[in-house]
Amino acid sequence: MSSSSDALFAALWTDYRALAPHAERIHALLGRDRAVPNDHVAFRGIGRPGVGIDALAEAFRLLGYEPRGEYVFEEKKLFARHFESREQKQPKVFISELLVEKLSPRSQRILEGLLAQIPLGISGGYGGSSGAREASEPTDALTLKRPLVLAGRPWSLTQAEYYELLEESEYAAWVAAFGFRVNHFTVAVHELGSFPSLQALNDLLEAEGFELNAAGGKIKGRPEIGLQQSSTLAPPVRVEFSDGPLEIPGVYYEFAWRHSVDGVLYSGFVTSSADRIFESTDARGRG
Ligand code: NI
Repeated sequence: MSSSSDALFAALWTDYRALAPHAERIHALLGRDRAVPNDHVAFRGIGRPGVGIDALAEAFRLLGYEPRGEYVFEEKKLFARHFESREQKQPKVFISELLVEKLSPRSQRILEGLLAQIPLGISGGYGGSSGAREASEPTDALTLKRPLVLAGRPWSLTQAEYYELLEESEYAAWVAAFGFRVNHFTVAVHELGSFPSLQALNDLLEAEGFELNAAGGKIKGRPEIGLQQSSTLAPPVRVEFSDGPLEIPGVYYEFAWRHSVDGVLYSGFVTSSADRIFESTDARGRG
């Protein structure tokens, strides 16, 4: 892996683990005597210029990543692409974006209100390597070479706005609350060499007290289609809103087992599985 690629993934892991102490505990559990192979990192964006898939992908394009598969999620009103590096053994990158025009006028107005807060000078440049963590940061933050994938939330919002979005789209509410940052890292369990199956890993995690996303079954996908996936349920984290903090689901850890299909290790994603993996950040309907 090139050093600039190492640096980006290290920065992403640092940003992610701040929201995911449980992922760090699992990482330590699995990596006791070896590195934990990373299958993919995922991001969520908004289908508008400067804040969608293209803008989030920019940092990876600069490292030689190229777009591969395309995925449509009708019901969740999302479009996604995955990117792969020309270099072998680099993690894949999965980036989705909200199809804003398919939402209700009310949700669209809330989102446009958030986008309008992105400071002048950033919004136009957000597709590149500049950006700021918070709208309120001084302008010298704009000079930092900070890609959108590490930008954080460049706006403020109220609890009511969050709940209104949540009613229509859990995804929209998550992006509104967290902005632009890692949604999940993914262990390539088949490369670990210490589990006979994804089920065996799930059993260990549950025995250790970690809660898994059961939407659509704890394991999504089948060996015959090339990919099996499971994930934790995103634990609640404290998020600041302009009228006070809320405890809401943050980020989750995913586990992938890739299989060979017709003699070739499957490298894509499975829409029906990803559709339910998205629900790992959904607090609605949890007991
Ligand atoms: Ni994923």
